[in-house]
Parts: sequence; structure tokens; C-alpha cells
Amino acid sequence: MLTAKNIDLFYGASQALSEVNLEAKQGEITCILGRNGVGKTSLMQAITGRHPVTEGSVVWDGKDITKLPAAERARMGIAYVPQGRQIFSQLTVLENMQSGFATLPRGERKIKDEIYDLFPVLRKMLRRRGGDLSGGQQQQLSIARALVTQPKILILDEPTEGIQPSIIKDIHKVITYLREQGDMAIILVEQYFEFARDLGDCYSVMDRGVVTVSGRVAEMDEQKVRSYLTV
Ligand SMILES: Nc1ncnc2c1ncn2[C@@H]1O[C@H](COP(=O)(O)OP(=O)(O)OP(=O)(O)O)[C@@H](O)[C@H]1O
Ligand SMILES: [Mg+2]
Repeated sequence: MLTAKNIDLFYGASQALSEVNLEAKQGEITCILGRNGVGKTSLMQAITGRHPVTEGSVVWDGKDITKLPAAERARMGIAYVPQGRQIFSQLTVLENMQSGFATLPRGERKIKDEIYDLFPVLRKMLRRRGGDLSGGQQQQLSIARALVTQPKILILDEPTEGIQPSIIKDIHKVITYLREQGDMAIILVEQYFEFARDLGDCYSVMDRGVVTVSGRVAEMDEQKVRSYLTV
């Protein structure tokens, strides 16, 4: 389980997160909802170690990882699928996936068939440059690259943003499959309400750097949550 406790995060003098709490459990999907600029990505930066926190702690598997660098957290099984995908455009599809090997011991540096089964399109495009894929294909590649690291927690930052409906469906299936395996914790950052509601076990809504509502999706007050998402 991952616990973020009382997180404060600043960019210079401007505060992006204030006393934010979050839990993500193995076998569950925890959704983070909220409008543009409310601090969703900042919270993921705090969890993955890409930006330091000023106050609070991040605990993973019983270990305080608040001060650990991002690469070390990745080796501990924390994988991040960044907003905007961040594919290496000059590297091939295969090389993009192999970049995930960095977190693995030498003997385990292999791309499992399971990954190609989840993303058949990638198998057909191994030699193509990342930059030549469509946005949807890049999103699938970005998820595949994260899965190559054999994560224990998978963090997806707005995976449906700017993606065509047919590929959103494919990504939905992949996330459902991963949840059913039960061995991973999944954090899903989304603004696409229905996508998050259909997949999520728990949710937290953010607004201007704080968590405003949270709970189990099954008990969610939809009207209230939607009111935080519309401008
Ligand atoms: N590197 C940065 N330097 C300065 N301010 C930043 C930086 N990154 C984010 N911010 C600011 O912090 C606040 C939270 O941004 P963040 O990216 O976490 O929001 P978000 O909820 O992920 O938004 P979106 O849905 O648009 O991705 C915003 O006001 C943003 O402008
Ligand atoms: Mg964001």
C-alpha cells in the first residue's frame, strides 16, 4: 500500500499542494479527479519523487520513501505513465520499451509476451520510431514501457487525454485486466469522469491544491463530484 500524508508542495513561492492525503491499495484503482491546474500531476510528482515535498511523507510498503530519488522509487516498483506520454521520439518502439529495463536486475531484462498481448499494435511496430506513432499508439507505448519495469504500483496521469475513442476502449480493457490480476496498486488521474467512475474503486477529488471529497466509488455522490469537474 502507498500512503501520502499531509503533503505540501511548492514551485518556488507558489504552493501547489496543501496537506494532501492519499492512499492506494494493492488490487484497487484509486482515481484522482479534478479540473486543470488543481495539483493532480504535482501530487504524482511528489509520489514518484520528481519534485520534492516541503512537508509530509510518502510511505510505500511500510518504508518512508519521502527523501528517495525518483530512480530509486522506480526500482522499488513505482511506475509512472506521465501526462503527455513523453515517448522518446527518436528511439524505436522496442528501444522505448527497453528503456524500462533500467530499473530491473540484469537477469530480468525481458519484455514479457503479456505486454505484446495487451498491446498487439506494438508488436507490429517494433522498429518504428516513437515519434512516428499516433497519439493513441504513443499512449499505449507509454503504458507498455511502464509495465516493462514490472511495477507494484502503476500511476497513469490522464491516459485518455487527446486519445480517440477506440483506443480509449483498449486502454480501459488493459486497466481492467491489470486490476483483475490483483497484484498491483493503480492510481488513475482523470478528467474523463465516466472513465474513472467505471474503473475506480476509490476516488479523491482535488481543487486548488487540496483534496475536497474522497471515498469509495460505489458510494460516490455523482452530482457533487461532477460539480468539481465542470468549470
Ligand atoms: N514546474 C512548475 N513550475 C511552476 N508552477 C507549476 C509547475 N508545474 C505546475 N505548476 C503549477 O502548479 C499548479 C498545479 O499544477 P498541476 O500540473 O499539478 O495541475 P493538474 O491538476 O495536473 O492540471 P492538468 O489537469 O492541467 O494536468 C498549477 O497552478 C500549475 O500552474
Ligand atoms: Mg496534470
